[in-house]
Amino acid sequence: TNNSQWGGRFAAGPSAIMQAINASIGFDRKLWRQDIAGSLAHAAMLARVGIIASEDEAAIRQGLAEIARRIEAGDFPWDEGLEDIHMNIEARLTQAIGEAGKRLHTGRSRNDQVALDVRLWVRDAIDGLSAQVEDVMRALVARAEEHAATVMPGFTHLQPAQPVTLGHHLLAYVEMLSRDLSRLRDARARMNESPLGAAALAGTGFPIDRHMTAKALGFDGPTRNSLDSVASRDFAAEFLFCCAMCATHLSRFAEEVVIWTNPYFGFVKLSDAFTTGSSIMPQKRNPDAAELVRGKTGRINGALVGMLTVLKGLALTYFKDMQEDKEGIFDAAENLTLCLAATAGMVRDMKPDVARLEAAAGAGFSTATDLADWLVRELKMPFRDAHHVTGRLVAKAEAKGCDLAGLTLAEMQAEEPRIQDGIFGVLTVQASVASRTSFGGTAPDNVRRMAAEWRERLA
Ligand code: ARG
Repeated sequence: TNNSQWGGRFAAGPSAIMQAINASIGFDRKLWRQDIAGSLAHAAMLARVGIIASEDEAAIRQGLAEIARRIEAGDFPWDEGLEDIHMNIEARLTQAIGEAGKRLHTGRSRNDQVALDVRLWVRDAIDGLSAQVEDVMRALVARAEEHAATVMPGFTHLQPAQPVTLGHHLLAYVEMLSRDLSRLRDARARMNESPLGAAALAGTGFPIDRHMTAKALGFDGPTRNSLDSVASRDFAAEFLFCCAMCATHLSRFAEEVVIWTNPYFGFVKLSDAFTTGSSIMPQKRNPDAAELVRGKTGRINGALVGMLTVLKGLALTYFKDMQEDKEGIFDAAENLTLCLAATAGMVRDMKPDVARLEAAAGAGFSTATDLADWLVRELKMPFRDAHHVTGRLVAKAEAKGCDLAGLTLAEMQAEEPRIQDGIFGVLTVQASVASRTSFGGTAPDNVRRMAAEWRERLA
């Protein structure tokens, strides 16, 4: 049965290793729905323009419906000797309906067929992932509204910097994810052209109607150059970049969950539903879901690099190298799906320890900038001088073993005699965040407004 597809030219079957390295049916069977949808559109078009008889088209339609039913039921006899999803389906179709099945491949090649199938698959994946990204955004927005005024430490270099609100922190991820979402939408719009009918590489002499098949398959139109149609996978690379960037954002959040759940921080707790224990240490509560989101980002980023590397040395047009596009795409999409679901789950699950967050927010002289700003505002001191004076006050507090508010007015005046009692009003973490009212700043009122805006946009 081997080489039944190109039996005319070939006397012998492939060696076992040839078959093993060549066959893609083990993974590209995932494309069966797309392959059948493409064949249905192609056959309908062939009949419409008179290339095949309408009885043949009807037989093809029924045959493909039966194949779909069998695949769905899990009793389709996959054959590695038939290499890939395209030939498995075509061979089975011909076996079932005879002559008409052999006419299906008129004016078409596996080169445009596979380019089509992968596009259709990626388009569906984009739609599914986009909905999931929105779900994570909704989860973050809900928690942000709840914690619009919950004060926590803001870090740079993971060192205490300035107090922020937890709501503001969570909305930062909403902004990142909204860009991921818009990148997915851009990629979808750019890739939404049908390569079907480019045939092997040069187009075809049959009077096919590529606009018709493009429309039937939900594309904006046909691709404009047959060589480009079968040679290009930039849509796949772009999709993988979208996945990699989104995973990278989720990974940064996951890293924060790992830090926040560490008992030395104790910023948030995850419930039993999102933690695991240890086989030896009975006390353990590990944030494995967060660690796996962070870890899986490695393979997703790897898929992007893999795809680009497959493409970089290819002359036009199709090479079998391109068969290597699929596993990375499938794997990235599947794992990003898991990462998004796990992140949404953790966001909804986590319990912030408000008292601990607030206490931590005040540590490390985090309102030193507020003190310097007071000197600028009230004493008209140049900021650079205020920075200096404040630095000396921090050193003084550190030596005394207290925070800035623990210094007496006299101790402050020893550094700068014009300092008045009012300065203590800006040293609390609440006053600090409330003062950050600049557009995009962390003030609770800002956060409430932004969260409400997001809630409506995502409704
Ligand atoms: N299985 C192949 C792939 O995934 C389908 C296209 C094969 N085309 C060819 N000329 N060998 O790329």
